[in-house]
Amino acid sequence: MDHPTVAILGAGSLGEIFARGLLRAGWLPDDLILVTRRAERAADLQKDTGIPTITSLGVGAEGRDVVIISVKPNDVPTVLSEIRGCLTPDQVVVCLAAGVEIATLEAALPNQPIIRAMPNTPAAVDLGMTALSPGTSASDDDIARAHLVLGAVGETIELSEDLLDAVTAVSGTGPAYVFLLAEALIEAAIREGLPHHAAEKLVHQTIRGSGELLFQSDESAFRLRGQVTSPGGTTAAAMHVLEDGGFRALMEDAVQSAANRSRELGKRAINP
Ligand SMILES: NC(=O)c1ccc[n+]([C@@H]2O[C@H](COP(=O)([O-])OP(=O)(O)OC[C@H]3O[C@@H](n4cnc5c(N)ncnc54)[C@H](OP(=O)(O)O)[C@@H]3O)[C@@H](O)[C@H]2O)c1
Repeated sequence: MDHPTVAILGAGSLGEIFARGLLRAGWLPDDLILVTRRAERAADLQKDTGIPTITSLGVGAEGRDVVIISVKPNDVPTVLSEIRGCLTPDQVVVCLAAGVEIATLEAALPNQPIIRAMPNTPAAVDLGMTALSPGTSASDDDIARAHLVLGAVGETIELSEDLLDAVTAVSGTGPAYVFLLAEALIEAAIREGLPHHAAEKLVHQTIRGSGELLFQSDESAFRLRGQVTSPGGTTAAAMHVLEDGGFRALMEDAVQSAANRSRELGKRAINP
């Protein structure tokens, strides 16, 4: 399949990550168009990336094979009303906004192929994880185009829409859990006497290595953890503190809270 042309409506942090990722994956600047609200940001982005960057949502959406909506959930209704008259049924609209339901998108853009998707920021280093759910008018070809574009910066998985709030809470929010762990571990390392630069290096490489090991290994996280935990040893002492301190319950609460927030944001996007 040739590179489909792509419009990114909302060139904020995530929009820019996708734009740069598509360039790395072989899309030409002219295969892409970015739309942002502020003219100054548009000029900077265009200068920096070479991608045409404008401030008109309608003009940006016109004629592009894939139209990605990457604005905050509250701004989605504005985007939908601005692009409504500018689309044709051969274009697929991919919405990345947390919590905004396919039914809302389809009500605003009747008969338009729609994909709702939830990416994450490791897309910035081509290791993103994006879950996508097709709407009722999306054909196999539309879905394949969405996989191609979103998969340019990492892995994709197709899931039913009712699971996307959970996906938001797990992989969408997930990088923040890992970064918080990194922060806490670095602070603890410094309290144990390690110099700051050494603490950072030890923690960054440990998280990177453990992630890669988990990814490459056929073993589960549970088994890999078992391999570094001997009875009465140092890891066992640390695991004891984390388990007793309610680590699992805290993670569960955090994920539940993020999923609930995703549902709330979706409702607000419907009734702003
Ligand atoms: N960041 C993440 O980790 C992540 C992960 C998964 C999903 N998401 C979803 O991705 C979406 C974007 O997130 P983000 O972090 O990239 O937000 P962001 O940095 O705030 O970017 C949103 C962009 O949309 C632009 N925008 C808003 N209204 C517009 C309009 N009417 N016309 C043109 N541009 C408009 C904003 O322009 P101005 O700056 O000029 O206001 C801004 O550049 C959100 O819905 C979020 O739920 C984010």
